[in-house]
Amino acid sequence: MKIFIDTANLAQIKEAASYGLLDGVTTNPSLVAKEGKNFKQLLQEIVEIVDGPISAEVVATDYNGIIKEANELAKIHENIVVKVPLIKDGIKAVKKLTEEDIKTNVTLCFSASQAILAAKAGATYISPFVGRLDDISFNGMDLIKQIVEIYKNYNYKTQILVASIRHPLHVVEAALMGAHVCTMPFDVIEKLFNHPLTSIGLEKFLKDWEKSNQ
Ligand code: E4P
Repeated sequence: MKIFIDTANLAQIKEAASYGLLDGVTTNPSLVAKEGKNFKQLLQEIVEIVDGPISAEVVATDYNGIIKEANELAKIHENIVVKVPLIKDGIKAVKKLTEEDIKTNVTLCFSASQAILAAKAGATYISPFVGRLDDISFNGMDLIKQIVEIYKNYNYKTQILVASIRHPLHVVEAALMGAHVCTMPFDVIEKLFNHPLTSIGLEKFLKDWEKSNQ
């Protein structure tokens, strides 16, 4: 399973990339706005840090506007994946962009029916938001299970990119279900490393070693 970081913060991207396990980056308008930098310049910097898919979202919501922004974003670097919202004009645009070999990530997916449409349009990635579903008392991971099964049934090529991840258990469940990618905030990547027994065990090994006077 691929691990993406869900941030536009360069320091976090650099730190996560230094572990050697980072496969890509996803951003969204809220994450970019938080950084207070020019969007296209920020993307230029990100593509230099991570050699993998970098999702950059359009803000247009009409077909022509989405196509125009998508072409501008795709020109920045071959690793840019254009993130398009799951609305009618978005899906129409994804179909067209796919024909033009522009990679797409269909975002704001909250149902299996939406995921079917994205796959039929030829999206490179579908981003179901699990945390935001959990927030309204729907089990986000149930949606991942459904999409994995549906995509297998029809051999759809669209990759399932589990988004809105809040904790390591989301990541483990996604891996058990066979999702292709998990995108997560920096703090969740950090938490994947941790286990109290590892820390306790290492401390004891080192203390015992010290006592042996070697
Ligand atoms: C997906 O690509 C989004 O950027 C993201 O995962 C949304 O997460 P949130 O629900 O924590 O904002």
